[in-house]
Amino acid sequence: MGAQLIVALDVPQLEEVRKLIDDLYELDLIFKIGLEGLYSHGEALLEYLQQRDVRYFVDAKLHDIPRTVAAGVAALVRPGAHIINVHALGGSEMMRAAVEAAQNRASELGISGPHIFAVTILTSIAPEELRELGLQGGPGENAIRLAALARDAGCSGVVCSAHEVRDLKAFFGADFLTLCPGIRPSQSPHGDQKRVMTPSQAVASGADYLVVGRPITRAQDSAEATRAILHEMQGAATRS
Ligand code: C5P
Repeated sequence: MGAQLIVALDVPQLEEVRKLIDDLYELDLIFKIGLEGLYSHGEALLEYLQQRDVRYFVDAKLHDIPRTVAAGVAALVRPGAHIINVHALGGSEMMRAAVEAAQNRASELGISGPHIFAVTILTSIAPEELRELGLQGGPGENAIRLAALARDAGCSGVVCSAHEVRDLKAFFGADFLTLCPGIRPSQSPHGDQKRVMTPSQAVASGADYLVVGRPITRAQDSAEATRAILHEMQGAATRS
């Protein structure tokens, strides 16, 4: 299967989120809800996604003791939940608990289990902050080490920059999935994203999931902006 587009539903009001889901409903997409949506109106939003029968990624970035993370994951496993993520820095046992909880809860519900993805090093962490945290080496080395732990714990893949996809695939193989934010169509402003790639560059690099937020949520016509990105992705997939 080619790369898939994930739209980050980063708008503050529940009504706006619902409208965005409705506007983009016909396109073959995965929606992403993050901490803002979860903490502001999580249950209503999850119910709406389920009611509309769409696939979604819960960007929950869980990081706690294994039992608590397992309970959190179990609560998030529902029809349509395609991906749930955790922080790799929570450790191997915690990631394994998340993977097991997802599988167990999905089989109780008779649905296919969501992928558990790991966040390695947040892209907002600068090299000097790593040292402050007591982590030796640069962000790249740490990301690869944590990705290895995530793979061994049974995670499906990692959240990473599209610039890291080639190295990750070389280390861990094509089946270890990559999910990449920081995607900007060439005409879009970068906002606070520093190391961006266009949708076609990200697809050519081998990324499995592309996360796009503001270029879609802030477009005059979100559906049109999404179609343009999907078109660009399809073009790149045909060429590669
Ligand atoms: O608007 P934009 O396309 O930059 O949105 C990207 C989305 O991906 C946001 O929801 C952001 O929180 C998320 N994200 C990110 N960088 C990461 C991890 C997640 O931009 N390293």
